[in-house]
Amino acid sequence: MSLGFNGDVVDFYQKYRRGYPAEAITTITGKFSLTHNDIALDLGCGTGLLTRPLAETVRAVIGMDPEPDMLARARQEGGTNITWMLGADTDIPKLTAVLGERSIGAVTIGQALHWMDHDTLLHALFPLIRPGGGVAVVTNGTPLWLHDNPWSKSLRASVEHWLGHKTTLTCGSDAEAQQRYAESLRANGFTVDTDTVEYEDELTIDEIVGGMYSALPPSKLPTPEQRPVLAGQIQRALEHDGPFIEHVRVTVLTGQVP
Ligand SMILES: C[S@@+](CC[C@H](N)C(=O)[O-])C[C@H]1O[C@@H](n2cnc3c(N)ncnc32)[C@H](O)[C@@H]1O
Repeated sequence: MSLGFNGDVVDFYQKYRRGYPAEAITTITGKFSLTHNDIALDLGCGTGLLTRPLAETVRAVIGMDPEPDMLARARQEGGTNITWMLGADTDIPKLTAVLGERSIGAVTIGQALHWMDHDTLLHALFPLIRPGGGVAVVTNGTPLWLHDNPWSKSLRASVEHWLGHKTTLTCGSDAEAQQRYAESLRANGFTVDTDTVEYEDELTIDEIVGGMYSALPPSKLPTPEQRPVLAGQIQRALEHDGPFIEHVRVTVLTGQVP
């Protein structure tokens, strides 16, 4: 069953989702002492926004995702030492059987753990990772419609009016979710730490609308004919709220195998 990362949503994802800052990648590679002898796994890799920078510091990366359309786009974007693999969190025990225990230096999960059964997954990941390596749960900031500023509030009101319901989805970026993930890491034997990278960026209306479309399931995505109508509504709703500065707070929650 598709989760909704398919069709036109993939194009919006690839065009409008921001990549991860270099400091977030060096945090992961430094913490787990990754070298060109290591293999890494990027679980829920999507179009490969986190997979590709990670691949520069290790021997090989497996980018794994259950959505064929996301993987097809990831493959198109390239990566010579990356193997793109169709699979989900539930496939980890089988992957461990293929690769062997303690064979992986790092498992990264970027903006995707909220889709998975994190307790079962983290338990399954522990034997796959070598000592000193670990899991990095990365969130790439708060969703655009949940910031505490006038333009984000106007965006939220406009989108909720269009959808006909509230939009409260935090994609695992809220403190409560982070706490749950940290506790689960600890309970499964990992040593836990959190690092953050913060910066500001100015967005255009086009980037705000595209970023929002990239987060909608295809069933909620406006038709190509409706898209300019909604974009116009958002533009009017935000016209007195510029400049559109996004404060991006990237969190890297790590669980290290002792
Ligand atoms: C918001 S996207 C993040 C993609 C990428 N990691 C990034 O940071 O841009 C979430 C991804 O998780 C994937 N996903 C959903 N359920 C999953 C599961 N059970 N196991 C692995 N990946 C899953 C989706 O297909 C989607 O590509």
